[in-house]
Amino acid sequence: MSTVFTHESVMPYEVVKYLGPQPGDIIVDGTLGGGGHAGLILERILPKGILVGIDQDKEAIEAAEKKLSGFKKNTKVIQGNFKDIGKILTELKIDQVDGILLDLGISMHQILTPERGFGFYPSPENLKSPLDMRMNTETGITAADILNTWKERDLTELFFKLGDEKYSRSIAMQIVRRRPLETVGDLLEAIKAGTPPSYRAKSLKNKWAANVFRALRMEVNNELGVIKEGIEGGLKLLRSGGKMVVITFHSIEDRLVKEIFKELTLTENYQPGFGLPKEPSVAELVTKKPVSPTESEIRRNPAARSAKLRIIKKL
Ligand SMILES: C[S@@+](CC[C@H](N)C(=O)[O-])C[C@H]1O[C@@H](n2cnc3c(N)ncnc32)[C@H](O)[C@@H]1O
Repeated sequence: MSTVFTHESVMPYEVVKYLGPQPGDIIVDGTLGGGGHAGLILERILPKGILVGIDQDKEAIEAAEKKLSGFKKNTKVIQGNFKDIGKILTELKIDQVDGILLDLGISMHQILTPERGFGFYPSPENLKSPLDMRMNTETGITAADILNTWKERDLTELFFKLGDEKYSRSIAMQIVRRRPLETVGDLLEAIKAGTPPSYRAKSLKNKWAANVFRALRMEVNNELGVIKEGIEGGLKLLRSGGKMVVITFHSIEDRLVKEIFKELTLTENYQPGFGLPKEPSVAELVTKKPVSPTESEIRRNPAARSAKLRIIKKL
């Protein structure tokens, strides 16, 4: 593992603005990463506030504990999945919180640590990495398990749906033909064989394998599957007036968050009888449209360019 945790927090000013942490607040950061957002929140909830930081990645937990060591009294760091937010907070004996942040996806540290198998650049270190891609390396299936056991048509569908990959079918065919795939180098060879040279030459910054890697990573970590559970579980814990901020990096993820928020903020039009109130919604949207990073942030941190931030407030 590389010892320095490299990740630049996305939309830091916007996170602070919309979450609005105040002295004494209890805030959950469900995707702690290197603790960048968490540090900004902690500075604002002192002296008595509590930041509960959750991450499923052991390396992120270690890095965040180091970064936030000056705030030990105010921080509770837990290795876990944010889908279990209810259980985690019950164990901490916390029944209500003032704000929740979910900064979905992967950290730059994970991409840049070759042994994790997330890196798609054909560097010598990446080429020999195992096809792992698990954020929690203690449990679950790896990318190699998927690549070596799934039917060709299921691989095609995965690369198409979660990767928007135009050459899904020919890449899947090459993968099945080359089994067993063991290293990132094996997968890159299959993608190369399944795509025309012109497609790869056109791809900016050598990113021709990015779509397939993203689809695999999202499947390995069940990234879409946990979003609904995390948001609904989190909303139950929010106090009235408390806010939840969710940052996504992919249009499928953003669409899902938008749909879930819509459901939670909908006032049912159905009126069971004259004079009876409408079914109340549980939350309201703070901004109608998602918030995007500023041009200057994108110049400073190009990885932020696809980020979208949505906010709801518990009623
Ligand atoms: C974009 S990074 C967060 C960076 C962080 N906000 C910061 O400022 O340093 C996403 C982190 O969320 C973690 N993660 C992704 N899905 C998760 C889940 N379902 N439960 C817990 N952690 C998750 C990843 O391991 C990664 O460390």
